[in-house]
Amino acid sequence: MKFLPQLLSLALLTSCLTMTSCSSKKENESDDKKAGIDKTAYGQLPDGQTADLYTLRNAAGMTAQITNYGGIIVGLQVPDKDGKFEDVTLGQDSLSSYVKNNPYFGALIGRYGNRIAKGKFTLDGKTYDLFINNMGNHLHGGKVGFDKVLWTATPVDGDEPALKLAYTAKDGEEGYPGNLSVEVTYTLQKDNALKIDYKATTDKPTVVNLTNHTYFNLTGGAKRDILDHVVTLNADKLIAVDQTLIPTGELKPVAGTAFDFLKPSVVGSRINDSTDTQIKYGGGYDHGWVLNGSGDSLKLAATVYEPTSGRVMEVRTTEPAIQFYTGNFLDGSVVGREGFAYKKRYALCLETEHYPDSPNHPAFPTTVLKPGETYKTTTIYQFSTKK
Ligand code: GLA
Repeated sequence: MKFLPQLLSLALLTSCLTMTSCSSKKENESDDKKAGIDKTAYGQLPDGQTADLYTLRNAAGMTAQITNYGGIIVGLQVPDKDGKFEDVTLGQDSLSSYVKNNPYFGALIGRYGNRIAKGKFTLDGKTYDLFINNMGNHLHGGKVGFDKVLWTATPVDGDEPALKLAYTAKDGEEGYPGNLSVEVTYTLQKDNALKIDYKATTDKPTVVNLTNHTYFNLTGGAKRDILDHVVTLNADKLIAVDQTLIPTGELKPVAGTAFDFLKPSVVGSRINDSTDTQIKYGGGYDHGWVLNGSGDSLKLAATVYEPTSGRVMEVRTTEPAIQFYTGNFLDGSVVGREGFAYKKRYALCLETEHYPDSPNHPAFPTTVLKPGETYKTTTIYQFSTKK
C-alpha cells in the first residue's frame, strides 16, 4: 500500500496527542524509568470546571503528582534507603475531599502566605481590609486563596518534566489591590529534587508572599508522627510572635532555646517545653525563622532526616525566612489517603517565604510589589538517603 508509511506516522501522532503522555521513550527503556509528564482528568469542581492531575516522573523513578486545583502537590513518591518508593506527603484521595476540607495540604499559598494582623494593612496611604479567617487575623490569602482556585496548566515534557501554572488574581480579590499575574513552575529534576519557581507582576502596588504548604512525613505513608525526625535550620533568629501568632517585631536569638536547630535536633525533644512562651503560643513549632545568609541567592535553609527510612530532605530557597510548622492543629478529623486519619504532629511543613505580617512591619524585608517589577523566588526540596 502506497500510503502505509504516512498512515502509520499519522496513527502514531494521533495516539501521542490523545494519550496525553508522549515523552520521548527510547527503545529498551522500561516504562517505569521513563522521564516525562502524564495528564489525567481529576474531577469536577462545584462550579462545573474540571481539574486535571499531572504526574511528573524522572528517570530515577521519583514521581510528583500535582493538580491544577490550588496547584496542590497530591503526592511525592521518593525512595528510602533500600530503594522502596513511598509517599512522603499528607494528601487526600479525591478532588472532592480537597475541595471540602483541606488544611492547605500540598497547596500553593497566596496572595500572602501566613498572617496579616487583624486583616488590615496600609499601602501608599490607603488602608486595605482583608478577610479574617484565623484568630482575628488574615491567614494564607483569605477565604478563597490561591490554594482554592483553578490554575491554567501547561505541561512541559523532557528529562526534567515541568508543570507551569498560571493564575491572575483580580484587583480587589480577597481585598488586595492590583491585578496580580502569577506563574508557578514545578520542575522534577533528575537529582530527585522538586524545584518551585514563583513569578508575579502587578498593575498596581500590592503585597505578595507566595509559598507552598506541603506537609511532609519522611517515614513514608505518614505511619506515625514526626517527633523522631531530625531537623536542622540554618537560622540564628526566630520571628517572635504573640498569642495569635502575629510577629511582635522582635527577632529573637535561638541559641540555648527550644528553637535552636542550628545543629541537627530531634523535633520532639523540646517541642513541649512549657517554660518557653513561644512554644506555648505556637502549641509547638509554628514560627518563622530568619534564614542566615543575605541577598536572594539560593541557600540551604533546612535539612530533615528520618532515621528509620534513611530519607533526607534538603530545602534550598531564595527567600529570607522559613515557617516551620509541626502540624499542631491536625487532630485526626481530616481523613486522608486510604482512609487514614492524620493526627496531631503527623507532619511538618517548611514554608519558605517572607516574614509574616510584613506589610505592618516596615523594619521587615518588604513584600511590596510595584508595577514594572517582577516578583521572583525559587525553592527546591531535594530528596536523598543515608544509611
Ligand atoms: C501555617 C500556620 C499555622 C497553620 C497552618 C495551616 O503554617 O502558621 O498556624 O494555620 O498554616 O493549618
